[in-house]
Amino acid sequence: MNQENRQSGRQLFGTFNPQDLLDRYGSPLYVYDEQTFRSRCREMKQLIDFPGFTANYSIKANSNLTLLRIAHEEGLFADAMSPGEIFLLLKAGYEPEKIFFIPNNVDEEEMRFAIDHRVMVSVDSLSQLSMLGRIAPGSEVAIRLNPGIGAGHHKKVVTAGKKTKFGIPEEQIPEAVRIAESFQLRIAGINQHIGSLFMTPDSYVAAAQHFLDLAATFPHLRLIDFGGGFGIPYRKMSGETRLDLTDLGKQVTAIVRQFADRYPNQVTFKTEPGRYIVAESGALIGRVLSRKSQGGIEYIGTDLGFNVLMRPILYDSHHDIELFRNGLSLFGQPESPFTVVGNICESGDILAHDRLLPDAHEGDVLVIHDAGAYGYAMSSNYNNRLRPAEVMITTQGQDVLIRRRETLEDLMSLFPG
Ligand code: LLP
Repeated sequence: MNQENRQSGRQLFGTFNPQDLLDRYGSPLYVYDEQTFRSRCREMKQLIDFPGFTANYSIKANSNLTLLRIAHEEGLFADAMSPGEIFLLLKAGYEPEKIFFIPNNVDEEEMRFAIDHRVMVSVDSLSQLSMLGRIAPGSEVAIRLNPGIGAGHHKKVVTAGKKTKFGIPEEQIPEAVRIAESFQLRIAGINQHIGSLFMTPDSYVAAAQHFLDLAATFPHLRLIDFGGGFGIPYRKMSGETRLDLTDLGKQVTAIVRQFADRYPNQVTFKTEPGRYIVAESGALIGRVLSRKSQGGIEYIGTDLGFNVLMRPILYDSHHDIELFRNGLSLFGQPESPFTVVGNICESGDILAHDRLLPDAHEGDVLVIHDAGAYGYAMSSNYNNRLRPAEVMITTQGQDVLIRRRETLEDLMSLFPG
């Protein structure tokens, strides 16, 4: 994309023309910028200024193997939610001690998978604590506490507070300690996660402070994990400001140091950022396939169904949309309201309602910004559509394929015979 575009639109990926990328890799397409991804890893790695602090990349946001390897190279650890995530992390070269397994409602086999691979487990209910005790008596365990303070962009992603399925509530801590003792389990870690996408430091800092007050009551901790949820501005085209990460980092550093001064053991502090690491390095690219006027609504029909990006239909999430014609951004041209829809057989298949956009034509290209987190990760084969390819623009400015596009044969691959 040329210099002129960079000044007007939201160019992310150097000199790349989205049309060229579609011509080469097919549409739709996920594209990631290595430089942005690496910078976010570095920001997060320095968040808390305390010896041994680690940022655990929450790979549920995006588990492309190439990105996992880069995060590892940048010195990040990782959290895993399932045996599949542990498996991928090991394949990407993460040492078991750099993986923290934080599952919710796993069976014995899944729990054993982590234990057999020497990965530290955090349990999030008294039942799962007993299960771990039965499988691996005498071992070290972490427990996920429900800190009572929740935050997030949608009720579906607030993970703390009374009305969520996650964590062990404070009042059950004595019972957790009793269960742990009955299996000679040592509670060596505690973790929490307040929810996903907060844009001011307050709730995270308050939850961290409260968490450390609770931590002081556990005598053998060597790991305290404050969770993820750091938000990114999805409405950059309307001037939304960033989360002040420096301020957040300073505040958490201060309370961590105070805690460490009083606590008898050496403790490693952790965070679990997913979205913040990868959202802004990724864009989803697709094509305008039709225009329609119906019931007073102007529709832009695209190949970007909710099978490739679930966030708008699931949470009413906003993603900035930029249109391109012949490789040039239309940003800055006169706008009117359009409803942007995909190719899935459901009337709810809407990427954006009444969005102010330049007049789109068939053949135009759409760039959906900040789609790197929970984009490909939540994609599906619904309607037997094929999952897109993923391409990375390297720090040297080259585009490389980092996951191939699915083929029709892939749709047959799981059937017997
Ligand atoms: N740790 C735990 C225990 C979590 O449950 C999550 C996210 C994270 C860390 C990472 O949160 P992040 O830093 O990415 O906000 N699909 C939704 C987000 C779901 C988040 C689920 N848990 C979305 O697209 O907004």
